[in-house]
Amino acid sequence: MQIKQFKLHNIGRFRSLEVSLAPTPDVSSNVTVLVGNNGAGKTSILKSLATSLSWFISRLRSEKGNGNSIPEEVIFKGSSSAAIEITVMDEHGQAVNPNIDKNEFLYRWTLSKARRGKKAEYASRLNDASRLANDYRIALTNNDQCSLPLIAFYPVERVVLDIPLKIREKHNFLQLDGYDNSLNQGVDFRRFFEWFREREDAENESGIPQDMLAKIFEIVDQNSSIWQKLQQLKASSRDRQLTAVRTAISNFMPGFTNLKVRRKPRLHMSIDKDNDTFNVLQLSQGEKSLMALVGDIARRLSMMNPSLENPLQGNGVVLIDEVDMHLHPTWQRSIIERLTMTFPNCQFVLTTHSPLVISDYKEVLVYSLENGELVQVPSQYGQDANSVLLDVMDTHIRNQRIAEKFSDLLDLIQDRKLAKARELLESLEQELPESNIELTKAKLLLRKQELRIEKN
Ligand SMILES: Nc1ncnc2c1ncn2[C@@H]1O[C@H](COP(=O)(O)OP(=O)(O)OP(=O)(O)O)[C@@H](O)[C@H]1O
Ligand SMILES: [Mg+2]
Repeated sequence: MQIKQFKLHNIGRFRSLEVSLAPTPDVSSNVTVLVGNNGAGKTSILKSLATSLSWFISRLRSEKGNGNSIPEEVIFKGSSSAAIEITVMDEHGQAVNPNIDKNEFLYRWTLSKARRGKKAEYASRLNDASRLANDYRIALTNNDQCSLPLIAFYPVERVVLDIPLKIREKHNFLQLDGYDNSLNQGVDFRRFFEWFREREDAENESGIPQDMLAKIFEIVDQNSSIWQKLQQLKASSRDRQLTAVRTAISNFMPGFTNLKVRRKPRLHMSIDKDNDTFNVLQLSQGEKSLMALVGDIARRLSMMNPSLENPLQGNGVVLIDEVDMHLHPTWQRSIIERLTMTFPNCQFVLTTHSPLVISDYKEVLVYSLENGELVQVPSQYGQDANSVLLDVMDTHIRNQRIAEKFSDLLDLIQDRKLAKARELLESLEQELPESNIELTKAKLLLRKQELRIEKN
């Protein structure tokens, strides 16, 4: 499933906004990034998409199901009603009928909302959400292992590692349960934990427990045939879905391995980091947030694609607000590449305040939001962070007062007002560290100009 485009009418600060999402004819990746100042409307856009897609999910669960409605406070101030139109492409029908007209893959629905006591300017038309849901329901009826598209929204408040204190009775996880809480709270760590524990139990029951294997590996000769056999046994007894989650986490966080549920001394989840074992609650905020996000996407994909050899190949739409949140610059740089590499068939719509996120991946569609308008930004691939800050994020790359002083200094040198220039340079020397590169450059320039004048 892919969102091709959407239109917002009187939503948040937007009177009317039409947006196409990647992939487009000029951008081949599945990644669209929204940038803009605080209050530019990035979160409003992601929330609108989540609201609109909730209708597909609820109609998939039951024929007459209702999704979320547009909250009244979201309707543009002074307007009586608002609407979200969405166009989704889903090639699900292709497998059933290869001769189907391509237009049949497009599904368009409109969700509208009027203020209390006001007449709506737009009509809700949700037939296509029902048609799409119905197509999937038929497929599920014919084949209970059929894949479903992931749809998930990770808001800024996404990271709460909620670990149940007791082990409850067994759950029965169905594909559809992959949608539980996927649009309102993002990371559902409680469910992640329960799901992980259950699959791990099954994994241990069907093979030699991982802990036991680790001990055997310590005493067996690595060149022996027993070692080879044990390796094979270990690989074949691994649960495909858990493997998907483990792989996803290690793709994003090199050095982190062996995520598992432990029962002693208390029920908790542990992970190994550089030969040391930690309770996941002990991890840093950035590590926790990335692990929870990636683990949640991978778990949902695994649940929704029970028949795929590699569930990470599952498709869907993932919305992440402030994708750079808590991440060190190195991780910010590689986040899009890791997302697309680990989840190659998911479409991502991301927001960010970080220049590093958008300058390290070639094929990414970047939109800048300003005054309720949206502008496509040329590729920032390979640009240094300062240029992105200046060109796209409209931000001074250094303290503005200092920047102005340097600019005045250069003007004075250029105009040969060297006494004044020296005065200004001295005041800058008082304020900045000696090693400041701009300061060194200005000193050289001034000296050169002074020498030139002395010569004449
Ligand atoms: N009903 C409304 N009518 C007009 N403007 C609104 C309405 N509701 C919200 N806004 C405006 O929309 C902005 C909120 O937008 P949003 O939260 O999407 O911003 P953002 O780009 O995510 O910002 P940040 O980077 O701070 O998260 C607010 O600044 C507010 O002024
Ligand atoms: Mg926001």
